[in-house]
This record gives sequence, C-alpha cells and structure tokens, in this order.
Amino acid sequence: MQNLFDLRDKVVVITGGTGVLGSKMSEYLAEQGAKVAILARNVANGESLVKRITEKGGTAMFLQSDVVDRKQLEQNARDIMEKFGRIDILINGAGGNMPGATIGPDKTIFDLNIDDFRKVVDLNLMGTVIPTMVFAKEMVKQKQGNIINISSESALRPLTRVVGYGAAKAAVTNFTKYLAIELATKFGEGLRVNAMAPGFFLTEQNRTLLTNPDGSHTDRAKTILAHTPFNRFGEAEELLGTLHWLASDASKFVTGTLTVIDGGFDAFAI
Ligand SMILES: NC(=O)c1ccc[n+]([C@@H]2O[C@H](COP(=O)([O-])OP(=O)(O)OC[C@H]3O[C@@H](n4cnc5c(N)ncnc54)[C@H](O)[C@@H]3O)[C@@H](O)[C@H]2O)c1
Repeated sequence: MQNLFDLRDKVVVITGGTGVLGSKMSEYLAEQGAKVAILARNVANGESLVKRITEKGGTAMFLQSDVVDRKQLEQNARDIMEKFGRIDILINGAGGNMPGATIGPDKTIFDLNIDDFRKVVDLNLMGTVIPTMVFAKEMVKQKQGNIINISSESALRPLTRVVGYGAAKAAVTNFTKYLAIELATKFGEGLRVNAMAPGFFLTEQNRTLLTNPDGSHTDRAKTILAHTPFNRFGEAEELLGTLHWLASDASKFVTGTLTVIDGGFDAFAI
C-alpha cells in the first residue's frame, strides 16, 4: 500500500531543535523513522534530547550551533554529511521574540532600542537565511530537498508591542516564497520551500508576555484568547500534522505556501 507520509530514513536538520516546539518536532520525526540532526546552542539540552530519542529506538545526533554563525553551520553540515550522508529536510526552527525589541504599554515607537530590534531580526531572519544557504547546497547537489520555515501569526497581522519580531517573521514569510521560486526554477521541482505560521503557543520565548510570575494570564494573553475562536493556546503537538504533511511526499506539489495553525485567530474579525 502506498504511504504518502512515509518519512523513514529521511535526514532532517532542525535548528532550535531543543526549544519547546522544536523538541516536540524532533521527537515526532524520529518516531516516524527519520534521522534527526538536532542543532542548538545548549549542549546539555541537546544531549538529553538525543538520549530520550535513542532510548525510544529513534536515530538522532546533536550538534552545537548558532544560526547566525555561518562557519559553525558549515561545520555542522560536514558533520551531518559524514554521519548521515545526505540532507533531505531542513526545519528552520530557531527564533523567537526578545524583550528588548518590544514596545512596552507605557512606551512608543520613539523608545525603540534599535540594537535589540536588529538582534531579533538577525535571529529570526538571518537565522533562517544563513542555515538555508548552508544546508540547501547539499539539497541542490542531490536535486532533492525540502525546507520548512517557521513564521508566525505576527507576520500576517502586525501585533502590538512585538515590532521587531513581527517585522522579522513577515520577512521570513516573504523569503519562503522567494526561495520556493528561486530553487524550483533554477534547480528543479525536487526542491520545495514552505512555512508554518503558528498562532499562540505558550513557550519560553513568550512566557513573560503571556503569563504573570504566579502563572496567571496577563491582560495580553486574555486579549489573545478572546480573539481565538477555540479560546485557548495551541499545544505543541498540534503543529505535528502540518509538519508531517509538509515534510512528506503528501505535499509533493506544494511549494511557496504558508500554513496557519492558530485555532482560528487569523480568520476572526469580530
Ligand atoms: N510559541 C509560539 O507561540 C510561536 C508562535 C509562532 C512562531 N513561533 C516560532 O516557533 C519557533 C520555536 O519557538 P518556541 O516557541 O518553541 O520557542 P523556544 O524559545 O522554546 O525555542 C526557540 C529555540 O531557538 C533557540 N535559539 C535562539 N537563538 C538561537 C541562535 N542564535 N542559534 C540557535 N538557536 C537559537 C533557543 O535556544 C530555543 O531552543 C521560533 O521560530 C518561534 O519564533 C512560536
């Protein structure tokens, strides 16, 4: 029987692979039989994730990496090629907001710290562009490869306060579409590029915006939930179906797209 969703032995590289969403994705893909190269900055987190995966019979390796450090990424690519021999899928998962690049409720755009704005653009945009340049080189040689970027609801509708993050994620969406055309027209239809746009999931990078120190919801979290038809935050597991579809041949004719996973937030006007 044909299985369009077969991911066995696919080599997946995931940046930010130890984050809240990234670690769920890494574990899930390994459960599906993929060989997962987990890239992240924190060695202890990376090694314990690899241990969890291998104990369950999966295949994974950890490589210390910074998504804005091209030299380190090039070394990562050599290490992955040596161990797994190819690169089928790249998930650009590293990213997030930074407190300094937000405008507090009592501040205006004129208070923006431009260095922090630049840092958040560097992480989210350059941190997608540079790994893509490094790992897509192998994909082009293979004439086969699949890139999945992580954009955000804030790319579609500018959210108050997170000015740098929104600008960077909007650029990631634009880059996704640009790159889909670039790779398909110059290197063939074996190369696909798509993005996922998660709505609101409670993770480390947005915890202080959404929860008070006692764990209760901030006013901002309450506003988000009031604007979400499902009236809750997403669970990391709820990204996995879209991820699996985009990573597999089930989406073979799909490139340059953005899939929103948000409990209806984007569609909801009043
Ligand atoms: N949580 C949400 O609601 C939400 C919504 C939309 C998009 N996203 C995106 O999903 C992705 C995963 O985020 P998350 O919510 O799991 O947050 P997270 O903070 O748990 O994970 C982000 C990961 O990126 C890593 N990272 C940060 N800077 C890095 C660098 N320079 N090099 C390498 N790794 C670096 C962090 O260490 C962390 O492991 C991010 O791109 C984020 O912007 C999250």
